[in-house]
Amino acid sequence: MKALVVGGGGREHAIVEALRRSGAEILAAMGNQNPGIRRAAVDVLLGDVTAVDRIVAWAKGHAAGLAVIGPEAPLDRGIVDALEAAGIPTVGPSREAARLETDKGFARSLLREHRVPGLPEFWSFDDLAAYEEFVNGSDFEFVIKPVGLTGGKGVRVWGDHLASKAEALAYGREILDKRVGGSARFLVEEKLVGEEFSLQALCDGKHLVPTPLAQDHKRAYEGDKGPNTGGMGSYSDADHLLPFVTRGEYEQALDTMRKTLAAMASRGTPFKGILYGGFMNTRDGPKLLEYNVRFADPESMNVLPILEDDFLGLCHRLTEGRLPSSGRFAHAATVCKYVVPTGYGTHPRPGELLKVDEESIRRAGARVYYAAVDEKAGHVYTTTSRSLAVVGVAEDLERAEALSEEALAFVSGTFYARRDIGKPEVVRAKAERMERIRSRVPG
Ligand code: AMP
Ligand code: GLY
Repeated sequence: MKALVVGGGGREHAIVEALRRSGAEILAAMGNQNPGIRRAAVDVLLGDVTAVDRIVAWAKGHAAGLAVIGPEAPLDRGIVDALEAAGIPTVGPSREAARLETDKGFARSLLREHRVPGLPEFWSFDDLAAYEEFVNGSDFEFVIKPVGLTGGKGVRVWGDHLASKAEALAYGREILDKRVGGSARFLVEEKLVGEEFSLQALCDGKHLVPTPLAQDHKRAYEGDKGPNTGGMGSYSDADHLLPFVTRGEYEQALDTMRKTLAAMASRGTPFKGILYGGFMNTRDGPKLLEYNVRFADPESMNVLPILEDDFLGLCHRLTEGRLPSSGRFAHAATVCKYVVPTGYGTHPRPGELLKVDEESIRRAGARVYYAAVDEKAGHVYTTTSRSLAVVGVAEDLERAEALSEEALAFVSGTFYARRDIGKPEVVRAKAERMERIRSRVPG
């Protein structure tokens, strides 16, 4: 069976590896020469991943029996509708269902209309005068989000990126003037206080198979400081929860996602593909920050390596609307750390040579997934995006983190990585902070 995988990042390398474990032959369509995917693929189409017609024609010509779409951009262009019209069952939502991610206003209105629990308070603006009135009359902290796609980088949080009403007004004006995220509209959301977690689930339109919880680290620097990025690394725990999420809170988040699926089905646009909820666990329980309609990057690298079920089989069942009620994952903790170019987040330095001793990483018991690197004459160079990720998988978080560090020691060159991700004392501090938030003591 030939499976098309669209995308050339770390997430797609992990998808490719999982498909290969269940015997698929890989057809890869990607914008960069990802060395890990290239070596695993029987054929590669290099070029723009949003060139839908070109990719569909190529996949058809190569007799693809299944497709899995990694990034959101081709989903926003309707690649799933086009592949399915060409007879290729695809893991990914239709363009209309992808609006859960591509149109933040859509997701919130749907959830509000269907009384889905777990939604923060929000307001929507496309008019400066109304926004000015709102800001001048507000007495609470809020967050500004362009409605379109900004790669997670368009959000401004009060206290982090916004220090005054004047700054909040200026950013709103900028979104309207420059159409940040592709449209002159934005949301204002109450600022939530808590710990973030990611819940990714396979969805077949009706049923959902959750994967273990993971926590991403979006800030560029240690201690969760600096600009937002695509994600610097992530971890998951052996019990598939997180030290700051109780079983009950997990069930609440799952309930939000199940009810979202039901709402999508009832409006005649069932959601099929991977739904990934970004939640903030607050003292009032988990609140949904955003939906994404694809695997998370890096958190896909936490869950796919420990999947014990046959991934290809699950993908088929997903496209046929007959997913099982649950999936099997190893009871292992994982820690993923991204190697990024120096200056990533502000002024990333491309063109730096990276040497990766894959054999030693494997021998240490860790994994390596390539991302946005250039491969030239057998050498790997940084670009302006994340380069590669190492993942430690072990019986507990402490050992998984140590493994990820062992693996990093086998990468040489000029690069940056957040070493604090998954460190026992850092994770403990998050759990303690959550305890304080639950008991309403400020801090
Ligand atoms: P998003 O792209 O919506 O996930 O937002 C990016 C980041 O901004 C999130 O990962 C959070 O860290 C932060 N953020 C978004 N919405 C809120 C909110 N309502 N309250 C506090 N922080 C938020
Ligand atoms: N974990 C960040 C993202 O996939 O958008």
